[in-house]
Amino acid sequence: MSETTELKIPRHIAIIMDGNGRWAKKRLLPRTAGHKVGLDTFVNTVDSCSDLGIEYLTVYAFSTENWNRATEEVSALMELMSKGIVKYEPEMVRKNIRLKLLGDIDRFEPKYRQALRSVEERLANNTGMTLCICLSYGGRQELVNAVNRLLKEGRTEITAEDIERNLYSAGVPDPDLVVRTSGEYRISNFLLWQSAYSEYYFTDVFWPDFDKKELLKAIESFSKRERRFGR
Ligand code: FPP
Repeated sequence: MSETTELKIPRHIAIIMDGNGRWAKKRLLPRTAGHKVGLDTFVNTVDSCSDLGIEYLTVYAFSTENWNRATEEVSALMELMSKGIVKYEPEMVRKNIRLKLLGDIDRFEPKYRQALRSVEERLANNTGMTLCICLSYGGRQELVNAVNRLLKEGRTEITAEDIERNLYSAGVPDPDLVVRTSGEYRISNFLLWQSAYSEYYFTDVFWPDFDKKELLKAIESFSKRERRFGR
């Protein structure tokens, strides 16, 4: 980082963790090998963000569209992610991390759903960084869900605030910076409402290779931006 740029730490970083499959393919390994290393990268990134004093970190782990992948890959991902989160709980306790799961977790097999929800409950009152993990998440589905909840209340006219308090992310401030790895320039149904004024950062690095140096590059790029929020 250049000595003249002062690092501005975003309050909320959101990350589309992409490129596990291509990382594995490049090494002639099965896709699941990429997801395994991707899990280590996730853990290291949570640690780094918490150490940097970031207040909120949101990661896109499994989208509504990901259910359409090969059954074996979906099962392997479910097991890897659920066991990974359970295994990481003691470290999250030590780091005072609050966990919030965003998405239609009811679609998960009961054993995984219960394990995940109980970790979330045990960490709910922590006061350090809030970690939001998007699982079975889709931005459009989140909005439809919010509107349906309002319709059930009998509402015929709604405000932006009404939608906000019915999103999975209710209570979480909008992301300041959205990062996507692996050289894809798409938003892929991620935080559609919440990212209205976010800064974007794209890198060619595949998710398993996204280390602290790459994270700092994203924050450095954010630090140089002038945010005007349409003003
Ligand atoms: C994208 O790579 C990644 C995923 C669909 C899985 C997400 C992440 C992890 C395994 C780590 C996070 C774990 C937890 C517990 C949150 P891809 O398969 O779409 O890669 P490709 O685009 O190269 O095929």
